[in-house]
Amino acid sequence: MKTAAINPPAATHVLRCVHCGTVQATASRMFRCSQCSELLEVTYPEWADAGREFGLRLKEIWRERRGSNLPENASGVWRFRELLPQIERGNMVTMCEGNTPLIELQQAPRNAGGARVLAKHQGMNPTGSFKDTGISAAISMAKSEGFNFVCCASTGNTSASVAAYAARAGMKSIVLLPVGQVASGKLAQALEYGAYVLQLQTDFDGCLKILHEVVQRFPAYLLNSLNPYRLEGQKTVAFEIMEQLDWNIPHHVIVPGGNLANSSALGKGFMELHQLGLISRLPKISIIQAAGANPLVRTMRENGGESLIAVKPETRATAIRIGNPASWRKAAAALKNTGGACEDVSEQEIAQAKAELGAEGVGCEPASAASLAGLKKLARMGFVKPDETVVLVLTGHMLKDVDYMLDAQVKRIPGPLDADPSAVVRNLEKIYAAD
Ligand code: F0G
Repeated sequence: MKTAAINPPAATHVLRCVHCGTVQATASRMFRCSQCSELLEVTYPEWADAGREFGLRLKEIWRERRGSNLPENASGVWRFRELLPQIERGNMVTMCEGNTPLIELQQAPRNAGGARVLAKHQGMNPTGSFKDTGISAAISMAKSEGFNFVCCASTGNTSASVAAYAARAGMKSIVLLPVGQVASGKLAQALEYGAYVLQLQTDFDGCLKILHEVVQRFPAYLLNSLNPYRLEGQKTVAFEIMEQLDWNIPHHVIVPGGNLANSSALGKGFMELHQLGLISRLPKISIIQAAGANPLVRTMRENGGESLIAVKPETRATAIRIGNPASWRKAAAALKNTGGACEDVSEQEIAQAKAELGAEGVGCEPASAASLAGLKKLARMGFVKPDETVVLVLTGHMLKDVDYMLDAQVKRIPGPLDADPSAVVRNLEKIYAAD
């Protein structure tokens, strides 16, 4: 038996270009390949010959840690630290992120051809979105490197998460937001957590482009998902899903796509479990975009994922209002490696799916509902079959975008009634009769 099987090795990592394969030990401020400027990913050369014993030992260690209250074990990210870059305990910035519920849906299967459907509710993270797992990992790197400022461009959730984790770490956060295109709950969060908020007269893609310049001229650590350490935190959702399913592999995982880091991270997480012999096959990871912001759908359809077709984005699911996604190459690889589908759904389909989730007590924000809308489409196409198990990733909390819900639901409130029990009962009788 190899030593690695008994004592899992501390993971030393390198950064590898996802396009030309160049390997480098450290990255520039923009986390781009020094040769071809494409994105980098974190890899762990020692795993190449770690063997299955290593994988099995990890399963045991991770299970044991679930009973521990130490911050590094209570975190649904750092609990999996053998598969993450090494960070000293004192530099881990954590708030028990991850640890989100996997909820079996009751109504959704009826609309999805009968498949078993579970919702992995990433909106139950500390700031209400999946971003917290990635920000915990990346901001811990920033702390290790001694940064005082962190920054991001955002459609809202990243900014809320960056602001909260920076506050926890005693750092200052700078967030660039597209003016008028961020749901008010997210903007309020960033402000309340103390971020320096700058609203720009452009969209998310424009904000990110400007931030490229800013980080060359101002000493702030970039926390957008160009930063490959973000994906290391976000990939842990794959490990949690497998634990919660007692290591029974789902047939499908369906996730909304915006800047395309989350789908990439999920793909990486499942691929690593596969590589370590912890799962025998990969679930198909499917990516769903809004029809008005569908660059990956067009890219896959029109050139099989070879070169990005950017679009001018428009959707009321503002979290995924992105036309020029940074991680498109990684996402295209996740689709190819797992055999997943890439589809788009209309505004109406998103609204309908969101209302359906709400009606079964599992709220989420509009972008998250794209995953259920996508499942319904994939079931109609026969891509998802009635005897299969599907995990929908719900990326954000329902209260992030209250205006969207009120617009859709406020018509259900009758006009103001007299403050009188009889008026209430008369109204209830009317509602019952109509039901
Ligand atoms: N769902 C929600 C709720 C999001 O906030 C995002 C992205 C996505 C899905 C798409 O994830 O970008 O990894 O493909 N929000 C980013 C932000 C862009 O700034 O908060 P992705």
